[in-house]
Amino acid sequence: MKGVTSFCILLYVTSIRSSSMNDVCDADDFECQNSQIPNRGEIIYGQCYRQTALRRLPRISFLTCLKECMKTSNCSSVSYRRDWKMCDLHGNITSEVKLVQEHGCFSSNISSWSLALVGKCAVHICSEGYKCVLKGDGLTCEKAYCIGKPRVVENAVLDEPFGLSRDLGHGMMYKCADGIKMSGKPFAVCRNTGIWTSLFICGDGSIVSKLKTTGQSTNSPQYTPGLGVDGLKEDTNMFHTQAELKPYWWVNLGHLYKIQKVISTNRIDCDACGGRLRKMLIHVGDSLDTSNMELCGQFNGQAVKGQVIVTQCSSLPEGQIVKLTSVNNELQYFHLAEVEVYGFYV
Ligand SMILES: *[C@@H]1O[C@H](CO)[C@@H](O)[C@H](O)[C@H]1NC(C)=O
Ligand SMILES: *[C@@H]1O[C@H](CO)[C@@H](O)[C@H](O)[C@H]1NC(C)=O
Ligand SMILES: *[C@@H]1O[C@H](CO)[C@@H](O)[C@H](O)[C@H]1NC(C)=O
Repeated sequence: MKGVTSFCILLYVTSIRSSSMNDVCDADDFECQNSQIPNRGEIIYGQCYRQTALRRLPRISFLTCLKECMKTSNCSSVSYRRDWKMCDLHGNITSEVKLVQEHGCFSSNISSWSLALVGKCAVHICSEGYKCVLKGDGLTCEKAYCIGKPRVVENAVLDEPFGLSRDLGHGMMYKCADGIKMSGKPFAVCRNTGIWTSLFICGDGSIVSKLKTTGQSTNSPQYTPGLGVDGLKEDTNMFHTQAELKPYWWVNLGHLYKIQKVISTNRIDCDACGGRLRKMLIHVGDSLDTSNMELCGQFNGQAVKGQVIVTQCSSLPEGQIVKLTSVNNELQYFHLAEVEVYGFYV
């Protein structure tokens, strides 16, 4: 797409007129030129919609573009960039979609064309996010685009010349506002599940764990789990489990966050105790079941007392619960003076 960025927008005299076959089909597209188009719709020359598309389809003819719109739920108009044979399908024209002057582009309201172009799909009732596909003698609805916009963090700016599109399995490029550093990859991706995931954050997160709800796998009377997020890194101020093979501790952040890093401060007060921590896994998710959580990172020790362990979550996992598990070969206690989770509200 980068080669496409330097297109020029000219002030262009717009005209609306009935289309000819030369507009609808490329001169070398024999199949298109000979297709039966029951009635020609209207085309607005030199003006296209910008900002948000349901789907963006490269390298197709205008006729195919119209058909795709008819098959795609909530599509009401198309923009077609002839030089790149690029088709944008637009949903309801609201304030988030704007008609702008653009040389070499034309747009069309789908309701001015005959639905007969798409055969059986003319009567589809696929719900938002789906498109109609012919299957055997019947119709079926397949997921085609994400609903809504990606949740991106503050200071993120969309970096796509033709605006957002929401195609399944595609990424949209973002950048951070001037002077703000990006971590991760500069994309928000519409997953095949129909849900957006953003792969980056702009700037540094803040501590999102302080004084939040906590728990640990086993309790000890004096050292409650909350001491891990009380902001104090002092002797005997720590969470502390019983001796187990895989003792764990967790914090519930109370909201979904994108997790950037976790800073763990080992127990401070006891020389012989610091080395009890040999291997620690940090998971992020929405439950305590690690098989359904994403690994932020791990520490491979042995640790010493008071050691500050910084674990960067390079994949920027999203979740509400952060779980720290100490992994041992024999029964062992798990205790840390403080855990500081850095993240972004999403
Ligand atoms: C999509 O279409 C459905 C059915 O026509 C409608 O209920 C819904 O509001 C539409 N969504 C948007 C975002 O326009
Ligand atoms: C546009 O939005 C309205 C109200 O949300 C809905 O009733 C209508 O079906 C939508 N049209 C399309 C083409 O999605
Ligand atoms: C498309 O045409 C229909 C029917 O003429 C009209 O109701 C609708 O407002 C038009 N949409 C746009 C975006 O111009």
